[in-house]
This record gives sequence, C-alpha cells and structure tokens, in this order.
Amino acid sequence: MASISEHIQIADWKKEKHVPVIECPGEVKGDTLFDVKVTLGKEISHPNTTEHHIRWVALYFAPENEKFVTQVARAEFNAHGESIEGANQGGLYTHHSATISMRTRKSGTFHALAYCNIHGLWESTKEIKVV
Ligand code: FE2
Repeated sequence: MASISEHIQIADWKKEKHVPVIECPGEVKGDTLFDVKVTLGKEISHPNTTEHHIRWVALYFAPENEKFVTQVARAEFNAHGESIEGANQGGLYTHHSATISMRTRKSGTFHALAYCNIHGLWESTKEIKVV
C-alpha cells in the first residue's frame, strides 16, 4: 500500500514556487523564544486566485536522534477572492505566509509542508541547533 509520503514533492525553493521557505536562526538559545516564518514564493511567486492558491502550511519539528515529530503550527489561508459576484471578485486574499514564535531545548530539523489546491503537497526542511 502506498504511503502519502510518496506524494510529497521536494525541490529547491529558489527554482520551484510551491516549496515552502523556512526562515529562522540557524542557532538559538535553549528555552528562549524565537520566530520561524513559513512562506512561499520568495523567488518565484505562487498564484493567489480563487482557482489556484495555497490552502495551508504546517510546520513540524523532529528533534535530533528521535523518532517522532511534533507539529509546531498550522496556518490555513481561507480567503482567495471568492465572492457572490464570482471568482476573484471578492477583493480579499489571504497571503500564504505565517510567523510562529516558539522555543525549544532540543536541536533538530523543521519540516514545512505546503498544500496547493491544484499541485498538491510540497516539503522543505531546515536544521536548527540549540547552543
Ligand atoms: Fe500551485
């Protein structure tokens, strides 16, 4: 039986507009708040229309040498120009970007997932070290 992981695409965010970009310090102090920004389209912008948009991003953290991940946050982007007047007539668009404040005592790897309503699931990763 196939796993959903076979449908998660990985690419270089500088060349592929669907790949989430994780922005955070590479090193953090233990148990001290820092911000992690998850966004898309830093190099190549992704459309944000009623027909084609990013529905959500989710951020997970895998502590070094541990089996299980923790979900850090999930952001839903629910406004994409929908209106009673028709597609893209509403004038309100949620931009696919989320900033999360967090702290950790453990080094590890962030995994960000982004879901495009047409092009499916995309992943990127970024390591952080607690110093
Ligand atoms: Fe897309």
